[in-house]
Amino acid sequence: MRRSSDLQPEIADESAWWRDAVFYQVYVRSFADANGDGVGDLDGIRSRLGYLELLGVDALWLTPFFTSPMADHGYDVADPRDVDPLFGDLAAFDRLVTEAHAHNLKITIDLVPNHTSDRHAWFQAALRAGPGSVERDRFVFRDGGGFDGSVPPNNWSSQFGGPAWTRVADGQWYLHLFAPEQPDLNWDNPEVAADLARTLRFWLDRGVDGFRIDVAHGMAKPYGLPNIDPRVELGSGILHDNALDPRFDNDGVHEIHRMIRKVIDEYPGRMAVGEIWVKDDERYARYLRPDELHLGFSFGLLQAPFDADAVRSAVEHGLGAVRSVGAPATWTLSNHDVPRHVTRYGGGDLGARRARAMTLVELALPGVVYLYNGEELGLPDVELPEWALQDPIWLRSGHTLRGRDGCRVPVPWEGDTPPFGFTQGVTTWLPQPNEWAGLTAESQLEDPESMLSFYRHALELRKSQPAFNGDELEWYGAPPGCFAFRRKGGGLICALNTSGGPVPLPPGEILLASGPMDGNQLPPDTAVWLV
Ligand code: NOJ
Repeated sequence: MRRSSDLQPEIADESAWWRDAVFYQVYVRSFADANGDGVGDLDGIRSRLGYLELLGVDALWLTPFFTSPMADHGYDVADPRDVDPLFGDLAAFDRLVTEAHAHNLKITIDLVPNHTSDRHAWFQAALRAGPGSVERDRFVFRDGGGFDGSVPPNNWSSQFGGPAWTRVADGQWYLHLFAPEQPDLNWDNPEVAADLARTLRFWLDRGVDGFRIDVAHGMAKPYGLPNIDPRVELGSGILHDNALDPRFDNDGVHEIHRMIRKVIDEYPGRMAVGEIWVKDDERYARYLRPDELHLGFSFGLLQAPFDADAVRSAVEHGLGAVRSVGAPATWTLSNHDVPRHVTRYGGGDLGARRARAMTLVELALPGVVYLYNGEELGLPDVELPEWALQDPIWLRSGHTLRGRDGCRVPVPWEGDTPPFGFTQGVTTWLPQPNEWAGLTAESQLEDPESMLSFYRHALELRKSQPAFNGDELEWYGAPPGCFAFRRKGGGLICALNTSGGPVPLPPGEILLASGPMDGNQLPPDTAVWLV
């Protein structure tokens, strides 16, 4: 793996492999199905390792494959130390780790410490044991308000819509920041931390190279569970201002991350990345102090429209936020929770052109990149029929929000008709559109103009060229709607044009362009790398 020349000595240590790695997110349900049931699984991933090696990524992030009733497709974990039969078993996991390592691919897995499934043995015991019991103390149970306790303990809402509290048969309420099937754990109870440490060691001993920590800004709850101030407009979406939201980013969370880090540090060369939806740069950086997480997703790029000023601001925030703590920035354009970027940028040919341009921008940046499975094929979001929708958001919003299924449709591998080699069976858990015949991996592999070839080429250059060295950028002057920056260490120049017309190219020799050049001009919706 390429290493920056100007890294601090301990950072240049090869065991810190993640500092400039390209991760590839495998949404396990949708990547590849080996057993014919229409749902992706661990053996399916193993069968595609050659493809991933060819693509040129360094590591995989596998979304949850643990025992789960699948109320939130695996983010409701009933047993964090076993594999759900839908996805395989522990032997299949061990096979995958061994073979991935043989393909030079690291394996990182999801960890869900904020909540469990309502089918977890602890929650079932808590329901049976009743108010005031040690079993209930592992979760956040409270009495309700009003003369008969029928008013929820506070005014918090769930991230999936509706109240964050559900009442049980004996009249108490339990907290769930997500679906009712995902009760929040009580992190003030030492048993909870001890159990997570056990889970970490369980998978580290099986050879995983790291973790992605779900809702890493959650877990700790404020004393007394105060109401959200009803006068405060929190804003929509997940990246609202947590400074005003008592549900997230409470100071107690850092002690939890220090505990996690201590365990991971027992295993050299392993890492953790946090899902941190915290807007304030200084508060975000706290999660990346040297004794907490190694990496934290920076979601600014994923939220920026296709506009040079907005993208530049996201880049500056992403870099500025991590500078004080010496952590690498971590970039991503798509994941399983947001519409795919081809669609966000306008869809069709325009969306694909802009997606290529933004991929060049992302891969030119210092730090770590997370790709989402299927983006290398240029997959758009799918407008699914209502009967097919499965995301709990659809149900909990009273069928007003369609949720995240559109970006989770199974990957098309080969052939002319669904299921496009995703499964040996007939159907897939979400239907694939017929039009994806032109987007299969098979149809793109040998086509030098395809999105897949473009990703392979860009990843290969990023890994092999010294022009990508260094942790800092300098910005050039650029026409309105455009920007150009230079990697200070290696000298790579990246220019983006989001204006309506062509602009002069910065000086230099073209290393890679996201689309055809117009003489010495950079056309609209295009980016270029120069040296
Ligand atoms: C964030 C995950 O990315 C999302 O898919 C999940 O629904 C929530 N956390 C709850 O675990």
